[in-house]
Amino acid sequence: MRSQIPLVIGNWKLNPASLSDAKALFLDIRKGLRRAQQKTEVLIAPPFPYLSELQRLSPSGRIGLAAQDVHPAATGAFTGEVSLPMLKSVGVSGVIIGHSERRAAGETDEMVAEKTQAVLKGQSLAIVCVGETKRDSQGHYFNVVESQLKALFSLVTPNQLSRLVIAYEPIWAIGTGNTATAEDAHEMKMFIQKIVADRFNRQAIKKIRILYGGSVKKDNAEELLAGSQVDGFLVGGASLKAKEFISIIASAETYAKSSAS
Ligand code: PGA
Repeated sequence: MRSQIPLVIGNWKLNPASLSDAKALFLDIRKGLRRAQQKTEVLIAPPFPYLSELQRLSPSGRIGLAAQDVHPAATGAFTGEVSLPMLKSVGVSGVIIGHSERRAAGETDEMVAEKTQAVLKGQSLAIVCVGETKRDSQGHYFNVVESQLKALFSLVTPNQLSRLVIAYEPIWAIGTGNTATAEDAHEMKMFIQKIVADRFNRQAIKKIRILYGGSVKKDNAEELLAGSQVDGFLVGGASLKAKEFISIIASAETYAKSSAS
């Protein structure tokens, strides 16, 4: 059973190509949400240079802003990096950490844990991505997720849990059109919750939101939510099309209403 209000995050990655395109997309989403969304928390994670301009376009904060990465230090000699205090100063409330595209570029479990600490200590939302490269018949993919989570939880304290979001993103499903089945996502959600309960306690399960990401589209969102009971989605490609993204949010909305009644 879901315990939280749904959270839908749009990860724009290295898109769109200009600030004016980013503003147009953001405004289209904002317009669509006026009608669709009430119960769903929505975050958009654009490239760094667009953050402060987009923040101005969402004065009510109805659409929150997330960053796609962060450096663990607040300031210092770290060329090319961006820190949590900097991100907070331009209105960012959450950070995606350990996305598989960053792990592929060399980010280790230890770096993910350190970045997560910086975000949680800064009272922001840490959206940490975990997931296996491929599935095998012996279930080794569970070991992959388990070791990613154990490294992460080695630094997390119980009072930080309500600001932690785990996004299960099987790498084989990202940008491929091969979505995990609702059963696969549900099974992984239960597995993640077991690791949370073993590391903390059963109460901790209610504090951490678990999302699914990997080829989420308007046509599979409702089925995925209902079948897996995840707390929402991390959406890549489909978040770059306003109508498609709004339909996904509307599915979360419908599901939230039906599971509340
Ligand atoms: P996708 O990406 O929705 O395009 O598969 C998801 C992600 O990378 O977060």
